[in-house]
Amino acid sequence: MSGRIPVAVLISGRGSNLQALIDACTDPTYPAEIVLVIANVPGAAGLDRAAAAGIATETIDHRDFAERDAFEAALTAALTKAGAEIVCMAGFMRIVGPAFVARWADRLLNIHPSLLPAFPGLHTHARALAAGVKVHGCTVHIVRPELDDGPIVGQAAVPVLPGDDEESLAARVLVVEHLLYPRCLRLVASGHATLPEGSAHLINPTA
Ligand code: GAR
Repeated sequence: MSGRIPVAVLISGRGSNLQALIDACTDPTYPAEIVLVIANVPGAAGLDRAAAAGIATETIDHRDFAERDAFEAALTAALTKAGAEIVCMAGFMRIVGPAFVARWADRLLNIHPSLLPAFPGLHTHARALAAGVKVHGCTVHIVRPELDDGPIVGQAAVPVLPGDDEESLAARVLVVEHLLYPRCLRLVASGHATLPEGSAHLINPTA
């Protein structure tokens, strides 16, 4: 028994946040280990990252299912079989339904590329630029049934600089996403983030 919390990661594409989590787990003192990576997109590049790290992978293509509930039941079956206790959505570009959220209540994390509650949904960097905000960033939160809603575990901010376009801003945010997600998973997996009243309360933010 390693004593580490088994974690699964859901991806749809590139998997750079997955890579940040894989890298964090190479530290033997990190409180989580990744036991399964699931992609809903066949050939997602992140699957190669997982395989290169010796992590089990599965592809569960949402297009093979007539109903979202059936797709999510297949996800849950695979996650349960792998023994996952925490599920991290990392660039998983599917909206999850209430039954899936309830099944993984308080153990389902998501990273979103904005400082929630600003800019839920898609095209966050373009919308931040259009709004003229001077600070932008990313959020790791516990998933609730509403889109991009739920107790915030952590946020990281970056400046919006003169001359930024969507690409330059996204790149600046991505750098801090890769720092934030491993830190937030550490807090949740080690029991240092609790949910007393609906908002994540960090009982030891320096952990
Ligand atoms: C990341 O920027 C993540 O925050 C975002 O997709 C990107 C995935 O990149 N997630 C969402 O937009 C969720 N709605 P990655 O595959 O390289 O981690």
